[in-house]
Amino acid sequence: MKPILVLAGAAATIAIVVALMAPTLSRAQEAGAPAKTLKPVSAFDSIADEKARSIAIFEETGKVLLDPRCVNCHPKGDSPLQNNLAKHEPPVSRGEANFGMAGMQCTTCHGPTNVDVVGQAATIKSIPGNPNWHVAPIEMAWEGKTLAEICVQIKDQNRNGGKTLAELVEHMAKDDLVGWGWNPGKGREPVAGTQAEFGALYEAWAATGAHCPAS
Ligand code: HEC
Ligand code: HEC
Repeated sequence: MKPILVLAGAAATIAIVVALMAPTLSRAQEAGAPAKTLKPVSAFDSIADEKARSIAIFEETGKVLLDPRCVNCHPKGDSPLQNNLAKHEPPVSRGEANFGMAGMQCTTCHGPTNVDVVGQAATIKSIPGNPNWHVAPIEMAWEGKTLAEICVQIKDQNRNGGKTLAELVEHMAKDDLVGWGWNPGKGREPVAGTQAEFGALYEAWAATGAHCPAS
């Protein structure tokens, strides 16, 4: 009897150790992809020319801006996109206020937080959620645009919701809907780096004149 009890004890210990280790795996690792990273602001210190430095910093933030997690909600058409810029299923319309149509509001399906879909056979692993879940207004469409075009557009107060440069930086660094990109729910790859690193890059971009790439 005794040796079997010892063995069972060892197995239980191993199971506990494995369980304790599991939460240290990042979401990206769980999804089978390496985590995407952002360079820190200091990586651009060696670029002496201020305008060139500003542009290089902006281009680094483009890793996030052009990610489907952001572009899916900044579409050029009437409907949001999903996964890798695919059509939203079921079909939905932005409606007059960008919160969907009567009877088919975004919040009919999207709750205040991400909700896991349970069951081995489920093809959709989770439904994204946020208390403010709705599609970006049409003048803020990024789908199909170059990074240079998006740069000019997000600085343009006629197309960015009237934001000053400081407010734009604040939005990137702190907005909760933007922040969803780093916490997109099971089955979706988060955007690169962290929102704090992303915000720091925008601060450095603004401090160096907020220059945009030429094309
Ligand atoms: C669920 C949909 C949704 C997602 C996901 C989303 N956005 Fe937005 N975004 C909006 C809406 C709605 C607005 C306009 C309302 C507001 O300013 O909060 C907006 C506005 C913005 C603005 C302000 C002005 C402009 O010119 O676009 C920026 C900047 C922005 N989003 C960045 C991002 C970034 C970066 C990501 C990805 C990390 C992202 N958004 C993901 C819905 C979304
Ligand atoms: C009938 C239910 C339903 C309605 C209404 C709905 N959605 Fe969705 N939406 C979903 C489901 C389910 C998913 C997850 C699909 C998947 O992961 O394959 C999803 C995914 C998304 C995604 C993709 C996130 C990503 O990066 O992959 C976006 C963006 C989105 N919805 C925006 C909206 C917006 C904005 C509205 C309102 C105009 C809306 N949805 C209305 C059910 C709905």
